[in-house]
Amino acid sequence: MSREYTYQYKDTALPMREFSKRRQTLMAQMEDDSIAIIPSASLQTRSNDTEYKFRQDSDFFYLTGFLEPDSVLVLLPGRTAGEVIYFCRDKNLERELWDGFREGPEGVCRNFGGDDAFPIDDIDDILPGLMEGRERVYYAMGRRPGFDNNVMAWLNTLRSQARTGSHPPGEFLDLDHLLHDMRLFKSTAEIKQMKTAAAISCAAHQHAMATCQPGMNEAQLEAEYLHQFGVRGGSAAAYNTIVGSGSNACVLHYVENNQTIKDGDLVLVDAGCEYQGYAADITRTFPANGKFSKAQAAIYDLVLESQYAAIKKAVSGNHWDEPHNESVSVITQGLVDLKLLDGEVNELIETEAYKAFYMHRVGHWLGLDVHDVGDYKVHGLWRTLEPGMVMTIEPGIYVSPTNHQVAESWRGIGVRIEDNILLKRKGNEVLTDAAVKTRSDIESLMQGASGAAISGRTVRRAPKSTGRKAKEKTKAKKAASKKITSVRKAAVKKSASKKSVAKRTVVKKKAAVTRPKARKKS
Ligand code: GLY
Ligand code: MN
Ligand code: MN
Repeated sequence: MSREYTYQYKDTALPMREFSKRRQTLMAQMEDDSIAIIPSASLQTRSNDTEYKFRQDSDFFYLTGFLEPDSVLVLLPGRTAGEVIYFCRDKNLERELWDGFREGPEGVCRNFGGDDAFPIDDIDDILPGLMEGRERVYYAMGRRPGFDNNVMAWLNTLRSQARTGSHPPGEFLDLDHLLHDMRLFKSTAEIKQMKTAAAISCAAHQHAMATCQPGMNEAQLEAEYLHQFGVRGGSAAAYNTIVGSGSNACVLHYVENNQTIKDGDLVLVDAGCEYQGYAADITRTFPANGKFSKAQAAIYDLVLESQYAAIKKAVSGNHWDEPHNESVSVITQGLVDLKLLDGEVNELIETEAYKAFYMHRVGHWLGLDVHDVGDYKVHGLWRTLEPGMVMTIEPGIYVSPTNHQVAESWRGIGVRIEDNILLKRKGNEVLTDAAVKTRSDIESLMQGASGAAISGRTVRRAPKSTGRKAKEKTKAKKAASKKITSVRKAAVKKSASKKSVAKRTVVKKKAAVTRPKARKKS
């Protein structure tokens, strides 16, 4: 039987005017008499004479939309003969027969907003001339050692010609500071792309939950994700997918994904696709057999409670550390309630005892890079959150299988729940909430999906639409979990006076944090 695939999200690349606007915004912030040099990525060897699939450098892509390797963008604000110069691979019909189409200098000028363009092989002859007479060079020194050497060689060429009147630039400035601050704030068009990356990734998580069964290999579940990313229009996984079953979920960067998923295991999957260059980054944790055990449920509910609490703090005006502090408070209190930690909550936070179970930060910026660029601190203080930023909120609890200080029933349980959050003028928007995450929703999805044969493969069926009875059941479950939450909340309240020490520190910091420079709106 043939299957029909439709790219739901085809042909929605950003318009070229968006890239042009970005270049103009960057140039408007550059100092007088300066030049910016931004190299593309190059192909990387995977083994012998084969390469990894090419992925464009995020900075270069952000400013150009141009997807070929071995290219360089040069920006020369105020240059009457042209401000936007490209170097790129020259046309070569024989190479194009083997490796694919090349725009060539003419194509780059025509299609990617260049005022002028030259073959990359001529860069040593031309670039020193473009640098000549400029006082400052904006360049991300240290990121590409090979290219750093080229930049120094061009500078030295000019220095060696000083006696003939040549004037080499005297100052190097950090390009990242300006460019990464721009990238931190997503435009309407970028948010649209990120919503698509999120939608594809959520669909893959929903599908995987419905598909997962004890006895599968972690690699098979990973394959379900990659397949879903591909058939729905994603270009790739945005990062190495983590499929950790059982105690593998406690290994934060577990990517071997080669073990059999056992009955009774939780499966932690951290998977997101890349769409038009933009990443989604989602983690869901679900029971392989469709039903959480008592211990798994207790840890799961605590992580979810901390995630909801942290998301509430991820709003404009708060500082970067507030969502994290909130997740630490909720998790530490919960670990005490569950008797996984013993002591005063405030002290356990101060001594970082909670880090035996929750050892990472609550999130990071998200965009073209999964761990996206942008400063987290400004002048040594946590940054204030602002509309247009996108971040992840991803608390977790990981009970090491070798932690003999806790009862055996807890050991080897690892839970992380991760969503992507767009900060708005008021409140926020969870871009990834189409992937279910309450315990009852996950169990309904997985249990509602009983074995149905699709293409010779046994998968669970997607859940039936919920009737009145099912709705009542869900309502009852929600009420029960609310009850548990309110018991824990009462305990949290009790220790509120102690917690307030940590909170006071937070408030003090918040008052002092502002952005370094007013951002020019693009
Ligand atoms: N998937 C990488 C992370 O969550 O940070
Ligand atoms: Mn993440
Ligand atoms: Mn992740």
